[in-house]
Order: sequence, then structure tokens, then C-alpha cells
Amino acid sequence: MRTLIKGGTILTTENEFVADVLVDGEKIAAVGTGFPEDGVDKVIDAKGKYVMPGGIDQHVHYSFVYKGSKVRGFETTNACAVGGTTTVIEFVNQVKGKGLIESLEEYNKTDAEGIAMVDYAFHPVMTDPRPEVIEEIPKLAEAGYPTMKLFMAYKGQFFHADDEAIINALIKGKETGITVMVHAENGDMVDFLTKKLIAEGKTGAYYHCVSRPPIVEGEATSRAIYLAEMAGAPIYIVHVTCKEALQAIKEAQQKGLPVYGETCAHYLLFDESVLALPNEEGAKFVCSPALRPKEHQEVLWEALREGWLNAVSSDHCGFDWEYQKHLGMGEGCSFADIPNGAPSVQNRMNAIWTYGVCEGKISKQKFVEIMSYNPARNNGLTSKGCVAAGFDADIVVFDPDYEGVMGVESCLEGVDYSVYEGMKQKGRPETVLLRGKVIVEDAKYVGEKGDGKFIPGAPYCKAYENM
Ligand code: URP
Ligand code: ZN
Ligand code: ZN
Repeated sequence: MRTLIKGGTILTTENEFVADVLVDGEKIAAVGTGFPEDGVDKVIDAKGKYVMPGGIDQHVHYSFVYKGSKVRGFETTNACAVGGTTTVIEFVNQVKGKGLIESLEEYNKTDAEGIAMVDYAFHPVMTDPRPEVIEEIPKLAEAGYPTMKLFMAYKGQFFHADDEAIINALIKGKETGITVMVHAENGDMVDFLTKKLIAEGKTGAYYHCVSRPPIVEGEATSRAIYLAEMAGAPIYIVHVTCKEALQAIKEAQQKGLPVYGETCAHYLLFDESVLALPNEEGAKFVCSPALRPKEHQEVLWEALREGWLNAVSSDHCGFDWEYQKHLGMGEGCSFADIPNGAPSVQNRMNAIWTYGVCEGKISKQKFVEIMSYNPARNNGLTSKGCVAAGFDADIVVFDPDYEGVMGVESCLEGVDYSVYEGMKQKGRPETVLLRGKVIVEDAKYVGEKGDGKFIPGAPYCKAYENM
């Protein structure tokens, strides 16, 4: 199958220019002008549209379980496609008693393969750091899993990791180029504040942010950086939300340490006031780290512009409000029982385009860099993230003139609410190709279950670049 995308403005991390894109099979064959149309099966008119690489969301949860509540799974990944995201990277918890690779392979067979509607990769999450599991870490590289994650937060949950587990992961991971990622919040501080607030009868959703203030994230971020420095390994800090954590990252980068980080769309667009919404609607916004006072948002935008943070993810977590998050507010419950995480994968790109690019906070080139190009490089997805010859034909034809409103009605995330409800949207993906196959046409999903496939990552990703 050969497809010609004609006359669009190609967006790269450096540039923009009008050109045609010739797709042959699953790959981009050429970018240029004057390609003959004979032998072409499909022509897509992209005049007046932007042509950009499919989004890569390097932080999603399709298997997360919080106190018994489970998120929606890969059967809802058509939401990614209509939002312009063609690859997602899922965090898969190691199952107690099983190995890291065994846990991932089993999860893939039962929950992702043949179901995913966009391409996917995995970050293994080490939950059971027995000596034989630590010894397994270097083998992740060969198996196509060049990253792994540990949770410094969530004390008392089976997936919480102590510093010893992180040190071991850093040292063993370095042997074969594995990038260790951490959720950086001090679990003991959160635990202490949570118990104190509950004892004082402060149980509503708003107290979620009081129980995990910025200092909790700042402490854990700088500790994680010290652990990485001691191990002589790079580290990637996921979902950075505040000045305190950024300060630690900046200082490390200024010292030349290989410290990298991302933020997420909701930390750029919402502040902690939404946690106090009436009728327990605040529960919709319970995610960790917590939303912050407004002044942190501008600092995060600046960190993206200046490169202190290199990606914007969704941290997508498809919990229902009514039957899952809201139930956490029932009799005898508190903010600590509300499943952590919010749905956001469908509108990650639309929201950052509307409130980032259209409001002049970031350029279109920066948009491509943080939504697609860098996430590909952070995770060793060497065939993705760029509209250029030889790359996978994961392409978004983006209509900048569309104006609409985001909300649950147009959402395919399979969840009963959207954090973006009623917010204006400028621009949208009109056509999306996944490895050459059109999966979105006229902004409607037209692909099939199983179109997405597992993409192994190569080790020694971006975090190792200057080592
Ligand atoms: O609240 C969140 N972020 N839930 C998902 C799990 C995590 O911490 O990344
Ligand atoms: Zn996390
Ligand atoms: Zn997460």
C-alpha cells in the first residue's frame, strides 16, 4: 500500500516546511515534492494542515490497580488514536513471585496483544526486589525493555520501593543501558501527613494535596538524584509537578549529571483548587503527585521551553468517577481511599496544542519534541517520532482551524468523566496513520482491534547520551 500525503506543512523539532510525504507499506519512503501519483493507492490532501509524527505517550496506565479498583485497559486505546497518539508505554507491575520479564510477557499475552489499537511498549515496575530479580535486570535490555520504574511513594502498597531497591536497580540497570525511572514522593512523609489529617477529621478530596505537598516531592527527587549519582547511573523522574523538584533537577543538570524528567498535561493546566470542587467532584482530580498551587504551572512551562524537562505525558488512568473514585469518598473513607490517577490520553495532544502552542507558551517545534520526538528517544523507540524517510509511518494530519470543546461525550477512554470537560479545543487530528494504515479519518476512529503491536525498545536511550 502506497499513500501520498500532499501539500501539508511538515513539523519537525527544528523546522516547518511545505512538502509531500510518500508512505510505502509501514514506512515513510520519502519527504519532498513532485512525487508521481501513479502507483499510489491513496492520496490525502493536507493543504492548510500540519503533518507531524504520531504522539508518543511514554506514561500510561492500562493495568494499574489501586486498593482493589482497576483502570480500563488496552480495549480503550482507540482513544489514543483519535487524540493523535500512535504509541503508548505502559507500566506493568511485576507479579509477586514472578520475574520481571515473565510478568510482562504474561500481561502482554492476556491484556495487550491483539487488543491494542495503537503501538505499545512497556516499562517493567519492580515490586519484589529479591536477589534473583535484581540479577534479572540486565536481561531487560535484550528483551526489548530498556526502562524500568520504581515507586518511592505509596508506602504500604505492594509496589512501594525502598532506597535499597532503587540503588540495586540503578547499579544493575547500568550494566546493560537500562534507564531507571522513579515516582519521586517521600512515602513516609505522605503516610505521616495522611494519618494526621484523617485523625483531625480532614478527609475530603482536597486534603489529598495537603497530605503530599511539594516538599514531599522535592525531597524524594533530590534523594533519587543522589542515589543515581552514587550509582553512577542516569535517572528519569516521572511526572514532575513543582518548583522544589525542578530545582533539584536543574542543579543536577548544571553539574552535568544525567538527570532527566517529564511533566504531565494536568500539572500544566490545572491547579489544586479543583480538588475542592463541590459534590465530591474534586475526587476526579485525585492523582499523585497532587495538583499544585497555580504558580508552579508557569515554572513547568518554562522548564519545557528551556529543556529542563523533556516530555509531556498523560499519566492516563482510566478510573470511573461514579463507581471507583467517588466510592472512595463513601462512609468511613477518606481522600486516601480514592483511586489515584486521572484519564487524559485522548486529549493530551489537543490540550497542549490549545493551551501551549496556541497561547504562545511553546512553539510548534517544541510541541513535536516533547510529545513525540523525545519520548521516542527516551525509550529507545528508534523507528518512531519523526516525519522523515525510513521512520515508521505514524503520522498525524492536524487541522489547526478546528474549534470545539473537550469532554466525556467525545471521549473514547471508556470512563464516565473527562478532566477537560467543557474546555475549549483548537485544532485536532483529522487523519492518523499507524505504520502506514489509516486508523483515523475525518477525526473518527476507523481502525481495528489488534492494529497496534509491541515495539521493543533499544537500550542506552537518551539518558545515556552524554555518559
Ligand atoms: O495518580 C497517579 N499518578 N496514578 C497512577 C500511578 C502513578 O503514580 O503513576
Ligand atoms: Zn507515579
Ligand atoms: Zn503514572
